[in-house]
Amino acid sequence: MTLIDPVLLKTRLGALAGRFDVDALAECDSTSSELMRRAERGAPSGTVVVADRQSAGRGRRGRNWLSSPESSLTFSVLWRFPGNAAGLSGLSLAVGVALAEAMENLGASGVCLKWPNDVLLRTGDGFAKLAGILIELSSDRRGTQAIIGIGLNLLPPVDELPQPAAGLSQACAQSVDRYAVLAAVLVQLAAVLDDFTVNRFFCLKMKWQRYHAWQDLPVQLIGDGDTPTLGRCLGVDDDGALLLETASGIERILSGDVSLRPAGSKMEGRSA
Ligand code: ATP
Ligand code: BTN
Repeated sequence: MTLIDPVLLKTRLGALAGRFDVDALAECDSTSSELMRRAERGAPSGTVVVADRQSAGRGRRGRNWLSSPESSLTFSVLWRFPGNAAGLSGLSLAVGVALAEAMENLGASGVCLKWPNDVLLRTGDGFAKLAGILIELSSDRRGTQAIIGIGLNLLPPVDELPQPAAGLSQACAQSVDRYAVLAAVLVQLAAVLDDFTVNRFFCLKMKWQRYHAWQDLPVQLIGDGDTPTLGRCLGVDDDGALLLETASGIERILSGDVSLRPAGSKMEGRSA
């Protein structure tokens, strides 16, 4: 039995119900892989696949995404944009803004964003990951399709994970119901993606920076095998690139193949 009933969800989506076509599965390999297959067969923009269980949930940079039906929401949304992929820089940050706003609308506090794709919860002694975003783009002559995969922890995960993780329940005074969470995210996503389609990331930059966990704070940037770069995080530019003030000037980081951590945490390296 699936935990999400699309008919019940439609009532929660209200006026926006017509913009989404939601299919709920008990299990699949990955909602993003499943949606990609459906997109290849012509599924329309606004198609959503939500699954109770993923046998091969994928995270960024080839990592696994671990989840259980009782404690998380795992879903993917297909969105088609005009133009090529170059015009979509900052999309994962825009989706982060939608997630943070949706969680605040549900009463959450302490929600913040980490470049380029994480939603974090500010905890007593640091930050813990609440949700992850995986964006996969492909273009053809008609435009660009984005598969937007979202894994959101409703309860703190029990699995052992490389970084601290948290659940939305820890951010809200009242208990959160999965229908309310999914509906709130889809409603906010439609609003943010409409804005992004017309005005690009530029229009969301200030909102993103308000949620930014380490705005103007010292951070370290860890690349594959590199010595970490230390600097002060200045936020992001109009394209969603990370701006890092280092000893050698302001570095602009566009590639997501790096990990951002607050300075002082493990793996600190050369000083700025
Ligand atoms: P980076 O920090 O390099 O940007 P990331 O965003 O992929 O990487 P982290 O936040 O560093 O990941 O660490 C989270 C790790 O835990 C990742 O490897 C992620 O795939 C994994 N993970 C798996 N399932 C969950 C989950 N349910 N909640 C939080 N993290 C999870
Ligand atoms: C990350 O933080 O690395 C991104 C995690 C994205 C996980 C979601 S769960 C739903 C969708 N299906 C997947 O296989 N991955 C994304």
